[in-house]
Amino acid sequence: MKKVGFIFDLDGVIVDTAKYHFLAWHKLAKELGFEFTKEQNELFKGVSRKRCLEILLDIGSIKATQEQFDTWMVEKNVDYLAYIEKMDASEILPDVPRVLKYLKKKNIPIALGSASKNAKPILEKVDLLPYFDSIVDGNNVTKAKPDPEVFLIAAKNLSVDPSSCVVFEDAVAGIQAANAAGMVSIGIGDAEILNEADYNFTDFTGISDDFLESLINKEHKG
Ligand code: BG6
Ligand code: MG
Repeated sequence: MKKVGFIFDLDGVIVDTAKYHFLAWHKLAKELGFEFTKEQNELFKGVSRKRCLEILLDIGSIKATQEQFDTWMVEKNVDYLAYIEKMDASEILPDVPRVLKYLKKKNIPIALGSASKNAKPILEKVDLLPYFDSIVDGNNVTKAKPDPEVFLIAAKNLSVDPSSCVVFEDAVAGIQAANAAGMVSIGIGDAEILNEADYNFTDFTGISDDFLESLINKEHKG
């Protein structure tokens, strides 16, 4: 049997940080004189901080100088960091620890594949860092999802063939990145939005040990 690796996105898969990203972007939009809605926040999932600010300024029809752009990038992150500062293990999404424990018990290599530059401190805060054999985040990539780079680096770090990797993602761009990497993609969230995924679950409570076992034993695509 080929060696299998599991790769988890962070925001919206392991922890519900989308609400904190939203609050920080909402505050900035308000300062700039316009409303930023929860629906618009959907566009920000899986998208780098820089790209999010570009989209936000488009929404508000605001033209920024490079200096303003840089200042707002910092401001958003300072506000976001203030929210995540208070995070603890109670903010881990349901059944994520059960799945991580199951994989760990089976000695399956586990990686994080996230667009966030704040991934490591968040995993530390919620006490999940020890489960991960590799962390690949916004500090390690040059190309954002849907480019497969983040997941391909994770597979390399785990010494697992990309075609033998399984990816959990809550963002359309993330599912597309996993598919482009030739990996098995599992959508966590709305199945209609994540309809390009190989499998769909609302959250990890629907992911049984038997299903994990079938993924571990499966002849992967590729
Ligand atoms: C992704 C989030 O995981 O990380 C995006 O889904 C976010 O909404 C991106 O913009 C970058 O995060 P950070 O923490 O580097 O600003
Ligand atoms: Mg995500």
